[in-house]
Amino acid sequence: MSSTAYNSPVDIATTLQTTLWHLPLKSSTSEFATSAPTFITIHHLRLDTARKFPGLLDSLYKEFTSDVASGRSLFDTQTASHDMFEAYFFAESLFLGIAHNSIVFHWQGDERSVEGMLMGVAAVSVEDARASRPWEECLAGFYSVRPNFPGRSSHIAGAAIIISTKHRQQGIGHVLARSMLYYAPRLGYSAGLANLVFANNPASIRLWESLHCTKIARIPRVGRFSRADGQGDEYVDGFMFYKEFSESRKDSPWASMSKRALTKASL
Ligand SMILES: CC(C)(COP(=O)(O)OP(=O)(O)OC[C@H]1O[C@@H](n2cnc3c(N)ncnc32)[C@H](O)[C@@H]1OP(=O)(O)O)[C@@H](O)C(=O)NCCC(=O)NCCS
Repeated sequence: MSSTAYNSPVDIATTLQTTLWHLPLKSSTSEFATSAPTFITIHHLRLDTARKFPGLLDSLYKEFTSDVASGRSLFDTQTASHDMFEAYFFAESLFLGIAHNSIVFHWQGDERSVEGMLMGVAAVSVEDARASRPWEECLAGFYSVRPNFPGRSSHIAGAAIIISTKHRQQGIGHVLARSMLYYAPRLGYSAGLANLVFANNPASIRLWESLHCTKIARIPRVGRFSRADGQGDEYVDGFMFYKEFSESRKDSPWASMSKRALTKASL
């Protein structure tokens, strides 16, 4: 469904500023500490701008189809065409996460903590953030934001998020989901609704729970999946998670003490 049909609250000429997010290190393994990204830049794109970056749409689509091939996606292999991907993920806004292993950029304002994560505005273009790296190397993940409903309810955002396969379980889902809480209100939305999270997707459930979203509904037997033993299909329940963005807006700019501490830690 296009954003026009869904009467988006967003001025489509608006492009929000890039933000820089500090990825808290997990204490799990030393290997993680040396190889995992430490910063993510998030870039607001629309389809026409995304098309300007050679190879980007193909890389996004590749991650999408890899998720579809897992057999756990909302989409199935019959319907996951490139056109469908573009229509769904670029219905309004797509936010691109680019991974960085060391700090190269700095905050330029609006520094704050969003659900406990430090971030700020940074004047970084997609090409500068990419720094000539292949997309496969630097693409951390992406998500779309769009109206969940038409007309008088179009102020409720819907979202779809995919973290690059090689970057999963490194906390990047936490970063991108928090950035959604930052960006969606700035696009004009007043609340967000993850309207279908399958019960067999613990990472996604955990993600929305960690943002203090309210689990408002359980939809019985909404997902049809192939059984692991190949003996036909099985049905899985799904959940709806809801969050008022007014709560996120209360995130206060973080103190200069935190800023100093972060700068020191990053050098
Ligand atoms: C769901 C998804 C976005 C999570 O991204 P991620 O970067 O791997 O998640 P994070 O590393 O930030 O971890 C988020 C939480 O999920 C948990 N988690 C991550 N992978 C998990 C897994 N395979 N099983 C159980 N829990 C998992 C983490 O431990 C963490 O929990 P915590 O808050 O208690 O620390 C990612 O797995 C993905 O892209 N999946 C395919 C697409 C998808 O399902 N999108 C959501 C549709 S609603």
